[in-house]
This record gives sequence, C-alpha cells and structure tokens, in this order.
Amino acid sequence: MPAGAEPLIVPVLRSAAEALQAIREDLGECTRCKLHGLGRTQIVFGVGSESADVMFVGEAPGADEDAQGIPFVGRAGQLLTKMIEAMGFRRDEVYIANVLKCRPPGNRNPEPDEIATCQPYLFRQIASIQPKVIIALGAFAARTLLETQDPISRLRGRVYEFRGAQLIPTFHPSFLLRSPGYKRDAWDDLKLAMALLARQPPASAAPAE
Ligand code: URA
Repeated sequence: MPAGAEPLIVPVLRSAAEALQAIREDLGECTRCKLHGLGRTQIVFGVGSESADVMFVGEAPGADEDAQGIPFVGRAGQLLTKMIEAMGFRRDEVYIANVLKCRPPGNRNPEPDEIATCQPYLFRQIASIQPKVIIALGAFAARTLLETQDPISRLRGRVYEFRGAQLIPTFHPSFLLRSPGYKRDAWDDLKLAMALLARQPPASAAPAE
C-alpha cells in the first residue's frame, strides 16, 4: 500500500438487526411526505424477529399503533395475533411492518405519493430480514409489493415470487372483522403459507374467530 494511503474498509456483511437499525436511523424523524404534518405522533417502524421466516405486511398504523409505536396492536392487531398463533407461531417469532410508517389522518387510505415515498423503506426491511414467506395483508400491501392495481379478491389464493421470498396476499384483518364470512378464505391463505414452510397447524388451530 502506498505510504499515507488509508485502507478502505467497507462493512459488507451486516446482521439483519444492524441493517434494520440503519434503516430506522435513515428514516429519522421523517418529513419526506405530508403525513409528518398531519397529526402523526410517531413513526411505527416494525416489530418482531429480525430472522423471521414469515413477515406480515399491513397498510398503515391506526390510532392505537400511532400511540404505542408498534404495528397491529389495536382490534385488527388482536385478530392478526390470533392468525399468527393459528399458524403455530408466537407473535415475536414473525416480523410485522406496514407499507406506511405514519398514521394517515382519520385512518384514511394511503395516497399514492405517500406509498411511493415509504415503499423503499419497506423493501429494505424485507431485504434485511429475508423472510421465506411474506403475507401481504390487504390490497395496499399486496399492490405495493406486487406493483399492480388488481383487487385483493383477484390477487389472493395463490403464491407469487417477491425478491427471493414467496408472497401470499390475503385479506386485511380489519376487513375480516367487518366481513367475518371471508375468514375461511384467509385461513386457506395461511394454510398455503404453512405448506410452503412445511409446517403443520397446531392441533388446536382453527380459523381465527
Ligand atoms: N392496520 C394496519 O394495516 N396496520 C396496523 O399496524 C394496524 C392496523
């Protein structure tokens, strides 16, 4: 090495935890889209195991998530927890994140510019965790990941490839709370995910009520 030249040390291999931490630090107190000025309390980044085989992707934080800083802790979150447990996992064994990291005012739908701004952070979360299976909860998650505008009713029921993971779209737990008749279809989707993971449902498992 020539005298005075500094060795160039580039950290190539980072743990998933370090990679997630770096993404969180990049987000900072994000002001990249208008949601930061529309009443959000805090950024809701994601929760769970950094080495999860299964990752759930929802839409956006609601009031409870905005207050606690944790995804899926309200009523829809309680149903999601039952769905996770029916698959034979504990909630802390999977990873849960949303397309948007900030709560849209009044729980309105995410807008295209907000999705476009936040999408790279979700994609980086997925690249860090490298889950085997991604379960996209509802139209916004499925459409963002699959880059389509198809309705969730058309997208669900089959397996897609997403950057090395297998992606299964299913109904959003909030929709299932409003329309419990679709829980059977959602359970079929979760069973598809379990088959991909070569996992049997626990003896007590039943469609989440
Ligand atoms: N709905 C979502 O999509 N995400 C949450 O975190 C809570 C409710």
